Amino acid sequence: MTRVLHLADLHGSLADPLLDAMTFLNEVTGRYPEAVSFAPGRPHEEFFDPGDIPKHLDTYLRHLREERGLTESQVRQEVFQYGRTKGLIAPLIARALAADEGIDVDPEALVVTVGAQEGMLLVLRALCAGPDDVLLVSAPCYVGVTGAARLLDLTVHPVPEAGRDGGLDPEALAAAVRELRAAGKRPRACYVVPDFANPSGASLDEPARRRLLAVAEETGVLLIEDNPYGFFGRTADPRPTLKALDGDRGNVVYLGSFAKTCFPGARVGYVVADQRVAAPDGREDLLADELAKLKSMTTVNTSALAQAVIGGMLLDGGLRLRDANEPARRFYARNMDTLLAELETAFRDVPGVSWNHPDGGFFAVVTVPFRADARALDACARKHGVLWTPMDGFHPGGGGEHQLRLSCSYLAPDRIADGVRRLAAFVKERLPEGG
Ligand SMILES: Cc1ncc(COP(=O)(O)O)c(C=O)c1O
Repeated sequence: MTRVLHLADLHGSLADPLLDAMTFLNEVTGRYPEAVSFAPGRPHEEFFDPGDIPKHLDTYLRHLREERGLTESQVRQEVFQYGRTKGLIAPLIARALAADEGIDVDPEALVVTVGAQEGMLLVLRALCAGPDDVLLVSAPCYVGVTGAARLLDLTVHPVPEAGRDGGLDPEALAAAVRELRAAGKRPRACYVVPDFANPSGASLDEPARRRLLAVAEETGVLLIEDNPYGFFGRTADPRPTLKALDGDRGNVVYLGSFAKTCFPGARVGYVVADQRVAAPDGREDLLADELAKLKSMTTVNTSALAQAVIGGMLLDGGLRLRDANEPARRFYARNMDTLLAELETAFRDVPGVSWNHPDGGFFAVVTVPFRADARALDACARKHGVLWTPMDGFHPGGGGEHQLRLSCSYLAPDRIADGVRRLAAFVKERLPEGG
């Protein structure tokens, strides 16, 4: 007989529903393969061509030989061997960041990670040292962050977003920091997605970004800026990132992801951590070097092959990833326009139903006058053939019980109208009598 382990004896995170959030969605999607799915925050697959992978790899190998002057034996070592913990393509990423975001950073301050997800884990582990340390997060919050915090037994404190389209509220952050300090806690950092957040779709305008940076500067709380969707505005006018606005003041640790701007299967992301770290003996290095120590004990290094393909994509795009993503931006913007127009048609006259109007990205949120939980989702999928994501799982402090997230990135445009009609049939069936 195989030995039985008891869940109660394993790490507490394993019994936490938070860690089931992603598998739950995949499982529901698998159970209703024919349903119109507004659930996954995945990029649209028609942008991908398997034939491009060898092309990008070739570009990177040519770059090693011709631009960096590596010998054949050095090239072999670069792509076949264990690699530098901080990564191989940091100089290329630094050039793309300067061109795309106006972020000027020494490649030494970059760590190439296994997706932004690994970046989060490393940053949280490094910043939170003891039981009084607290991670602040925008609420609602991406589950990858709250999940990583749970894995590390960190205390999470939610900071509400301002209104339906407003993004993290800087004044609420200042108040939360005061409150936590008064209670003897050490607020260390605040996680925020300033552009087209997951799950709310909300964005910070430029004055709010500047105010948030001022709060960080005044309180000493670091901002962890996560920016996977920044290229996908409904207009082509980008807002400056927190990191770009902060310059070299060191108030922002920046998480980058190539999951949406290149492809998620590569599992490549990065952290910009240019803060200086002083050791008791007076020596100084960069926070990136400290993160690399943690990385050496988790994933050792990010796959050299995956980095080579992403490096080739950066080179093939002229080290300007934003331009290379313009067709994707237009596609997602049109999908969001369609989604919002269809919601208007379906719910304009329906009392108690409202939705936000994101400026871009993959997600919008609909508020309904009944509980939009996992059971409601299952009933909706079974009876009406449409999937969405309950918002309650995104609220670390409770909330979102009457909200659902719709993702418009994965669907072909002609499926969106059909999906919203199905959703409307479900919602109207659940409205209170006479509603
Ligand atoms: C806000 C946010 N951050 C990070 C990620 C994950 O990035 P990666 O795939 O690079 O780990 C996602 C993916 O959905 C996301 O929505």
